[in-house]
Amino acid sequence: MPTLKIDEKEVTVPPGTTLIRAAKELGIEIPYYCWHPGLSVAGNCRMCLVEVDKMPKPQISCHIQCQDGMVVRTQSETVKKLREHVLEFLLVNHPLDCPVCDQAGECGLQDYYMKHGLYDSRLNENKVKKGQKAVPIGPTVMLDNERCILCSRCVRFTDEISKSHEFGIFNRGDHSEIGLYPGEELNNKYSGNVVDICPVGALTDRDFRFKCRVWYLKKTESICPGCARGCNITIETSHDRPTGVENERVMRLKPRFNDEVNDWWICDSGRYGYHSIDQNRILTPLVREGTAAAKESNWKDALKQACVSFQNLMAQNKEQIAILLSPMMTNEEIYLAHKLFVETLQLSRVLLLGVHPNGDQDDLLIRSDKHPNRMGAEWLGLIEGKEVTQKLVSEIEKGLIQGLFLFGQDIVSQFQSERLNGALNQMRLSLFIGSNYNQTVSSARMILPGASYAEKDGTFTNFEGRVQRIRKALFPLGESRSELEIIQSFAAQLGLDLPSQTSEDIFLELAGSVPKFRGMTYDTIGHEGVRPA
Ligand code: SF4
Ligand code: FES
Repeated sequence: MPTLKIDEKEVTVPPGTTLIRAAKELGIEIPYYCWHPGLSVAGNCRMCLVEVDKMPKPQISCHIQCQDGMVVRTQSETVKKLREHVLEFLLVNHPLDCPVCDQAGECGLQDYYMKHGLYDSRLNENKVKKGQKAVPIGPTVMLDNERCILCSRCVRFTDEISKSHEFGIFNRGDHSEIGLYPGEELNNKYSGNVVDICPVGALTDRDFRFKCRVWYLKKTESICPGCARGCNITIETSHDRPTGVENERVMRLKPRFNDEVNDWWICDSGRYGYHSIDQNRILTPLVREGTAAAKESNWKDALKQACVSFQNLMAQNKEQIAILLSPMMTNEEIYLAHKLFVETLQLSRVLLLGVHPNGDQDDLLIRSDKHPNRMGAEWLGLIEGKEVTQKLVSEIEKGLIQGLFLFGQDIVSQFQSERLNGALNQMRLSLFIGSNYNQTVSSARMILPGASYAEKDGTFTNFEGRVQRIRKALFPLGESRSELEIIQSFAAQLGLDLPSQTSEDIFLELAGSVPKFRGMTYDTIGHEGVRPA
């Protein structure tokens, strides 16, 4: 293993390590544009130049591999001057439209100019290179050619990661420009990632453009609930805006690096799926009489009414009650629901329902199972059995079930059954607990608004058995509440002694009793998640 010195600090690295990576290990930041740790090396921007003893000219640190005995300088006067020149060269033709550029505040050119540039411009002419501005190049991305610094990251992403090959660099010399191949549009399942890796404002997100200045964004670490992969994300919400915190909403999602799960990427479906947090939401408890439209209620009355119906059904025959839990629920919610309905109330029909769709899976990230916590539910003893589910659905259709709790599942559209629709409506207690309207909500007798994944704390276990944390990024919309709160309020209304606990308390309890979670805490799960020992 080569041992070398970078800025007087010694480091030993595995053979083949590049200088830029070795410097990172020492906490030494070398600026770069074209290099990206997830892509091949292009070596075209020259921003990462360093001096290496015995080499006649400065070298690009993203390409040069560490050798034993190397002595490297990243902060010499020559290196500083070179960085300044590279920036001056890049900015000669870069439009000065920062005030109206959506990248402002997170732009590689702005940041490095302040850190490594700060020269007096020697250019008195107008910018000579003109490019097309704000061209939609697909459903998700806008291209501003004038701002491109030709780092080729977007080209390498579509060649090496999405393998969709839409981008190319066309023409030569100072006529070179980024573009799509003739007849192509940027419309692959991972297109939004090119916005994340473009170091400047050349590629911007059509969904996010001009919605919020980036310095107003508050960032909360979480997990994408779109499939069983559990990609690590950052939920970015607006805050401190003149409109106030009560208007705080999700502005965008960004991928968060985790080399065990998703590297630097997320799919478009996960990235733009956040719209369901605000759209089509159930905002208040609703109660329906017969086939009439559901009427707005309040938590106190709705919970009381649900408890009275539930207690009557319990007194008559427990077997006519069924609880359907969902692999969209967190580990803590499933554990608490199990504790209440199985251990305390001794109900026998507590099932997991989350139809496992086939298709729409690839070798990169996307999983065909569109539920984030099926593995967690299985660890907690809830395994979905097709035959059992089918039997229950037919019992519901025949009117044999008179009390049904549905945690988020849209069974009416899942099973495409008109009879199910009618049965829910005729039932003495059909209670839907969830965040968004769907066909089942149109038939249920009672609806309690649940919080979305961005509005609560908890954990999901991905398909590989990695337990990861979701964190509350904003307050629940309208009067919605987390399922934990709803289960606890329901138990309190029944007069049961189920202590009011936070999701962390509940996780500690389940980690003490469920073998797969043994020894885990929110701290040990940390930012990257953890698998059983
Ligand atoms: Fe690089 Fe962005 Fe230009 Fe693509 S559009 S080459 S990522 S600067
Ligand atoms: Fe090394 Fe661009 S980062 S040449």
